[in-house]
Amino acid sequence: WRQRSELAALADLPPQLDSELERLDKEFWVSAEKLKEVVNRFREELDEGLQENGRNIPMNITWVHSLPSGNERGTFLTLDLGGTNLRVCKVTLHGQEPPNPTNSPSPGQKFSLEQEQYKLPDHIKSSTAEELWTHIADKLSTFLSSKGLDKEYTKEKPMPLGFTFSYPATQDAINHAVLQTWTKGFDIKGVEGHDVAAQLREKMAARNLPLELICVINDTVGAMIASAYNDPETIIGAIFGTGCNAAYMSSLSSIAKLSPSDPRLKSSSSSGGKTTGKMAINCEYGAFDNAHAVLPRTAYDAQIDAASPRPGEQSFEKLSAGLYLGEIFRLVLLDLADRGLVFKDRDVGRLRQPYTIDTSFLSQIEDDESAGFAQSRQMCRETLGFDLADGEVELTRRLAELIAVRGARLCACGVAAICTKEGITRGHVAADGSVANKHPKFKRRWARALGEILDWDRREGEEDPIVITSAEDGSGVGCAIIAAMEMERRGRRA
Ligand code: GLC
Repeated sequence: WRQRSELAALADLPPQLDSELERLDKEFWVSAEKLKEVVNRFREELDEGLQENGRNIPMNITWVHSLPSGNERGTFLTLDLGGTNLRVCKVTLHGQEPPNPTNSPSPGQKFSLEQEQYKLPDHIKSSTAEELWTHIADKLSTFLSSKGLDKEYTKEKPMPLGFTFSYPATQDAINHAVLQTWTKGFDIKGVEGHDVAAQLREKMAARNLPLELICVINDTVGAMIASAYNDPETIIGAIFGTGCNAAYMSSLSSIAKLSPSDPRLKSSSSSGGKTTGKMAINCEYGAFDNAHAVLPRTAYDAQIDAASPRPGEQSFEKLSAGLYLGEIFRLVLLDLADRGLVFKDRDVGRLRQPYTIDTSFLSQIEDDESAGFAQSRQMCRETLGFDLADGEVELTRRLAELIAVRGARLCACGVAAICTKEGITRGHVAADGSVANKHPKFKRRWARALGEILDWDRREGEEDPIVITSAEDGSGVGCAIIAAMEMERRGRRA
């Protein structure tokens, strides 16, 4: 493991910790060979998900038929329920502004946005449908009045609303979404198996909000669409955040579970009854390997799963997404403490609390270049409530690295599976989410693993054929673009 570690000065570790690290490294390291095996199985599951009775990966049909033209216009309200926050935005799309001859040939800013972010109170995550939608309707109402939109729009002439609902949903149309199962630790009663669009509409009507729900989308689809608005090389929208998932454009003919004569296809295609021959698929691949056939799971992963509200679900996500990385880290440290290998004679009460260690903790440890790792020590002191000895600091740094490396390498598998399945060899993977954006080494590790899987001959200074890029704002701008495309399809203007 010493050879694999990128960490600078490693202090000498006591022999016992050294051999523990060796064991942990064996459990967490995913070799190139194993990655390839994972990708092979991943491809099969993506294919199975497109069949009539597919299991595991849902491969949800989204009724988004094309990438944007870049000319989409109008003003929209967007609502984003993603896991941590609730965000409401007023988005105005300007479409393709004519180049400004006096200035530069590049098009001007294509959208403007005003937004408000509200932290989702923890208790809501395990409350009821009633509490959830009441809370959301409250925030929508507050936003509308604070921006004077409740005066501008009426029930007769409502403001178009797009809803980014980042959970697996079955859609019969773009403004309908039956929640399949909660993910990312949510456990709100009375929503699974119900149409979230109908539940939201009902609460908005009860409040007389001048809003018309046009579309319900997933964050991955939003990321893909928002990015494609500016970047024609976009092939996939991916989230590496609290959860982990991706979307891509599929040809209709590859979607076995959608027959060409399906009446829903007719009503969702453009006004002349023409289809584009394409459909965005929200993979929901956090559910990959729920059968536990191939992923290298450790005892710590099994513990996380067993304690989660939906054991046996989201197996891939539980190994790779931001919600869980900090928790894996905590469980390993606690195990070592309970076996008397670290933190002797200190009170590990705080370490016993589930989810006390946020994934940003791991990012900060890996980012720490302060002398003697003073910053990491300080963070540990604040989070755990005691000081760490030198060997313990080294151990936590290496552990943070091990867990994050495994996550990034596994994250490359999902995208590799989509690309090999679809025959995609070039393009941009528009990525969003806290892990992609905040972990200092995620993108580099991800790219390296992708190269190992796809057998690239990577050379310094040369761009990879498939590149991870920073997605544009999918749940705001992307959602508004999709609402605009949908209204255009219905022959309406926002
Ligand atoms: C979870 C959700 C999925 C979402 C992802 C990223 O996997 O089920 O819908 O795209 O998290 O937020």
